[in-house]
Amino acid sequence: MKAGSSNRSSCGRLDDGALYQELKLMPNKDVPGVELKKYSCPYCLITFDAFEAIKSHIVADHKSEALPESEGTVHLTINGQEYTFQVEPDWTLYYLIHDKLGFTGTKLMCDRGACGSCTVIMNGRPILSCMTLAIECKGKRIETVEGIAASNHPLVEEYVKHHCMQCGYCTPGFVVTAKALLDRNLNPTEYEIREALGGNLCRCGTYPQHPKAIMDAAKILREANREPGIRDAG
Ligand code: FES
Ligand code: FES
Repeated sequence: MKAGSSNRSSCGRLDDGALYQELKLMPNKDVPGVELKKYSCPYCLITFDAFEAIKSHIVADHKSEALPESEGTVHLTINGQEYTFQVEPDWTLYYLIHDKLGFTGTKLMCDRGACGSCTVIMNGRPILSCMTLAIECKGKRIETVEGIAASNHPLVEEYVKHHCMQCGYCTPGFVVTAKALLDRNLNPTEYEIREALGGNLCRCGTYPQHPKAIMDAAKILREANREPGIRDAG
């Protein structure tokens, strides 16, 4: 999902005419009273008083360079796949992955950091996607419940086996939090599990079932020896 332009070459370079338009260097003559006094080079941030001056500068010094990325450009990896987005300053990570990308497994319940239903894993740590701005996620590695399910993680099967859900709305957040726990601790105690799940709320009251499912999933992972030594890394 890369921002693109028909006037760009494969390396991102614009042709001469498109360059000035895309950089929005032209004074807006359509707006009465608006008169641009300074022109800032988007490559090196030198300012010029006249449009012709910055035009000459870019042609002389930067013509062969790819257009710099705007501040709202975010590169990140979600479930192992790389994406590039142009985000608005007020977009949350939840909005990006749920509304823009269609990973609807991540749920929004409180939208204020109180319930854990929107939990995703960012660079190995569970975080609340409703409280994280998309612009903060530059270069991050995100894992959602879809990625966990696609990896055939035993948590999914054990959650079903132990009937850990009633309405199921909170369940993805629990599974994601549990996955982050097992990534750093393959032999958690019940206390450690309850502590890890402390930020996840369930209005249906399924709490007693989660430790059982997580401990059984951990046992399967230990027996399969899928991630040897990972407990020590935590
Ligand atoms: S929806 Fe994000 S913490 Fe509740
Ligand atoms: S299963 Fe309904 S809110 Fe948790």
